[in-house]
Amino acid sequence: MELIHTVAELRKYLRGVPNNVFVPTMGNLHEGHLRLVEEARPRGACTVVSIFVNRLQFGPKEDFDRYPRTLQDDCAKLESIDCDVVFAPDEAELYPEPQTYTVHPDSIENILEGAVRPGHFRGVATVVLKLFNMVQPRAAVFGKKDYQQCLVLQTMARQLASPVEIILAETVRSEDGLALSSRNQYLSAAERAEAPRLYRVLNEVADAVRTGTHAFATIEAEAMTELERHGWRADYVTVRRRSNLLVPRDDDTELVVLAAAKLGTPRLLDNLELTI
Ligand code: PAF
Repeated sequence: MELIHTVAELRKYLRGVPNNVFVPTMGNLHEGHLRLVEEARPRGACTVVSIFVNRLQFGPKEDFDRYPRTLQDDCAKLESIDCDVVFAPDEAELYPEPQTYTVHPDSIENILEGAVRPGHFRGVATVVLKLFNMVQPRAAVFGKKDYQQCLVLQTMARQLASPVEIILAETVRSEDGLALSSRNQYLSAAERAEAPRLYRVLNEVADAVRTGTHAFATIEAEAMTELERHGWRADYVTVRRRSNLLVPRDDDTELVVLAAAKLGTPRLLDNLELTI
């Protein structure tokens, strides 16, 4: 496995590799990330993983400086699953000058996660486009756990006519249903025992919708109350149209239930697709 820090070295290494598949990450890798790499591997001649903690997607109150940097550990994990290239640029390499040209996603950047984290998706879209230009992959893999991010990046690639195929991988879960996330490491033992409730609540919401009720607001409010009764602070539990995350119309059949809630300090996200 090659560990590369500069764009020049990366371009030199990838010259003549037309078919690379890319997994962008911010490091601190867990089993969920490794599954993305495993998803990428059979789809191309070379698997490239980037590790870059992207300041542009952090809000002023979010702790960019304390985001865990675990490059050595990450590389050991990637090597053990036969990743070909790790691209780990520093900030000066990724942003050699102030980034005044940015990608503004459409109205989706202001709802749900975008409403809670203003500017977040602009930061994500900008760095991903920039990484695409550096790595020039044939395809890139993203995890559906960050559902809104997937939609932002799919829409960006389509509307900007990017040649990169966007592949979405299913969320990886612990046996008790908790979606794997770097944030889980900050849960206390008691919080970790409580955390699977988020996925159970998503399933309850999906079951209620499947029974044919379109009283989404009532179902959502009940779900939030259930979480709050068990010590969560819920930002949202909501049923949305899968294609654009807007409130569904009566004839919509492809839906997704999305939730974000804090349990102690960590803020957990999860979602569940459903077809009615
Ligand atoms: O999902 C992430 O880890 C990040 O948002 C991404 C896509 C690597 C961009 O920094």
